Amino acid sequence: MNDIGNICFPQSFLWGSASAAYQVEGAWNQEGKGPSIWDTFSKIPGKTFQQTNGDIAVDHYYRYREDVALMAEMGLKAYRFSIAWSRILPQGRGEVNEKGLQFYDDLINELLKNNIEPMITIYHWDAPQALMDLYGAWESREMIADFDQYCTILFKRYGDRVKYWITLNEQNVFIQLGYGAGLHPPGVQHIKRMYEANHIANLANAKAIQSFRRFVPDGKIGPSFAYGPTYPFSCNPDDILAFENAEELNNHWWLDIYCWGRYPISMWKYLEMKKLTPTIKEGDFELLAYGRPDFIGVNYYRTATVEKYATDHVINKATMNTTGKKGTSGEHGIPGLYKSKKNPYLESTNWDWEIDPEGLRIGLRRIANRYQLPILITENGLGEFDTIEENDQINDDYRISYLRKHIEACHKAINDGIEILGYCTWSFTDLLSWLNGYQKRYGFIYVDRDEHNEKDLRRIKKKSFYWYKKVIASNGECLKKEENE
Ligand code: BG6
Repeated sequence: MNDIGNICFPQSFLWGSASAAYQVEGAWNQEGKGPSIWDTFSKIPGKTFQQTNGDIAVDHYYRYREDVALMAEMGLKAYRFSIAWSRILPQGRGEVNEKGLQFYDDLINELLKNNIEPMITIYHWDAPQALMDLYGAWESREMIADFDQYCTILFKRYGDRVKYWITLNEQNVFIQLGYGAGLHPPGVQHIKRMYEANHIANLANAKAIQSFRRFVPDGKIGPSFAYGPTYPFSCNPDDILAFENAEELNNHWWLDIYCWGRYPISMWKYLEMKKLTPTIKEGDFELLAYGRPDFIGVNYYRTATVEKYATDHVINKATMNTTGKKGTSGEHGIPGLYKSKKNPYLESTNWDWEIDPEGLRIGLRRIANRYQLPILITENGLGEFDTIEENDQINDDYRISYLRKHIEACHKAINDGIEILGYCTWSFTDLLSWLNGYQKRYGFIYVDRDEHNEKDLRRIKKKSFYWYKKVIASNGECLKKEENE
């Protein structure tokens, strides 16, 4: 059970990589695109690391052909990218921008020409600013119909060629950071509003899946969830209860709705007592029942360890490490439920993200067993500083080691009986890390720019590029050799 054993990924395994429109495209106001909430938010002083934004990002909009050529050279089997809603519908609803549609048409065709399976993320956090101004975006039920209209345009236009679709990317992140912590747009800090907006997003997700069945009957669809499996800090029953609380509130709260169309019992009760439950209207649960996905999209970076959190001991507001100075992030938790704890068994990145490949296997088993659905790993990767050495060499052995261990964990999970459709690294090229600027790099391809200087945006292959190329070409077999070396 513990051994990597005979490496044998299914022949159809989708070795992929991923990105998101705001983080790579640039061209923020070009060819008819309307502003998104991130275009606006990132320009408010103090919101992002050193005031970085995605105005130019890594210029993928104008360099997509070069980027796809690099994907083809690597032998990539799948590329997950997102569509900028306000490129298609500059006002969020109503008039369609043909140039926007054309851009993604061209990208899709370029991918297919190179035998790369396109995977579309419909929503990766960049709601049209016009809808925010009009009715507060996710805080209004009007969003359900507008999102459905947007989705339907995409299904009709690309459904003939694109068979893998992701509805919402990390609803748990954009809702909690946008309406709870206030760190993402719209910068709201109000827990009741957070649960209300989240419920509306759940309904929009289900409605989109319902439409998908009609327009792309031979395709597969699911949300991508930021899954951080929880561990109890000790076997003290108090810590076990804290773990149950965290798992239910931070994971099942979303996954149960996606897969079963209902909220978990105990956390519903807890939120009800706190008067925080969302408003449920007639017909909501009927609609949610249509939301059962074809797969669970998993974005995995780390696990979370928790312990009991007594109500009389309140920690200060959590701080997030957005600078890359190790050890600058703080504890967080909910008094009476759970408190985060550093896991003494795990190393961390410079951004204090614990590295835990075994946690991926554990998480995959937990959710596949609970929901009985296949899994598509839609993101996994390491954000680190990279340096260009002599002759344009970027020796990112730390990234190779990270990815290798996580791919091995996938393999072990497959051996455990879990159906994994594919594995997308985050990310293909370097890109803008929302709150962390450009210095936190994730790609196989270094992009020569920094926080304030776009330089020449030159693409440089890192050592990990050549390594992943071998992994793909051998369908994972080369990892076995590496293990024996
Ligand atoms: C996920 C997002 O949360 O993690 C990506 O889907 C993001 O868009 C990635 O870039 C890494 O997070 P960060 O904050 O390091 O950019």
